[in-house]
Amino acid sequence: MAILNISDVSPMQRNANASYTPRDFSLPNSSWSSETMRLYSYYNSQCEVDNDTGEKRGGPWRRLPSYDRFHMSENGESTWTDVSKVEPGSATLIGGVYLNKYIQANAREFTRSIKTAGAAFEYVVFINKEEQRSVCIFQAGYLLEGAPGIVHGGAISTMIDTATGIHATHVYGPVMTVNLNMNYYSPIALGSTVLIESSLDKSTGRKHFISCKVTSSDGSTLHTEATALFLSVNVNVHHPSRM
Ligand SMILES: CC(C)(COP(=O)(O)OP(=O)(O)OC[C@H]1O[C@@H](n2cnc3c(N)ncnc32)[C@H](O)[C@@H]1OP(=O)(O)O)[C@@H](O)C(=O)NCCC(=O)NCCS
Repeated sequence: MAILNISDVSPMQRNANASYTPRDFSLPNSSWSSETMRLYSYYNSQCEVDNDTGEKRGGPWRRLPSYDRFHMSENGESTWTDVSKVEPGSATLIGGVYLNKYIQANAREFTRSIKTAGAAFEYVVFINKEEQRSVCIFQAGYLLEGAPGIVHGGAISTMIDTATGIHATHVYGPVMTVNLNMNYYSPIALGSTVLIESSLDKSTGRKHFISCKVTSSDGSTLHTEATALFLSVNVNVHHPSRM
């Protein structure tokens, strides 16, 4: 059985009888700057690793892989659709919402939807379980421009929502963002690398409060601060990309 990289095949091909290795977007690529690589290497060197005897060794951090998302039905079958065979108006219930099969077949996670390396959102998230905090290394590509030369505020809030959401999901399971508050203090230069650090403030029942700050890579400039509220939700769809 052929092993395919999911990013190299069309949704139609994914429906074929083949297995594939999903692409991990959080690994370095040629677009990563020396500063992005320096930060990546720093956190990666403090990650827990299995040694030869199966023991866990190393630091408190863990890198979260970021796989391409594909939808699975409850019985575990892929719901990727051959779009040429989609009946007009046909739809499937996904996560409580009826989605047209054409939409399903072409759906992409927003922050990973632009394929050109370095063009938009380049990021990797590390979780520190002991301290209940996470850090996201984010390199802002040239397609994220707002005012000339600086990163669009919506792109920054997208990354805050993403980084805090990954953190909340990792700790509490499936969640949805219900509130996001942002204060922008200092612009982020296009192409630069920043740190998005989030910490768990409190959790009561289904409600999880997270605060977050975006700083320059050396921590000297505070760009943005945010608070987020996530609500735990029941999902009836298995998402292998959500760890
Ligand atoms: C998440 C969602 C399914 C929750 O709906 P629900 O299960 O009916 O939850 P409820 O409305 O009963 O809210 C549960 C609790 O959270 C609180 N809450 C909900 N939204 C809130 C908000 N925006 N701010 C503060 N508290 C909020 C409610 O007051 C309630 O508190 P209580 O239990 O103390 O009374 C629904 O709000 C939703 O779909 N929102 C859209 C989320 C979204 O699209 N996010 C972006 C993509 S992730």
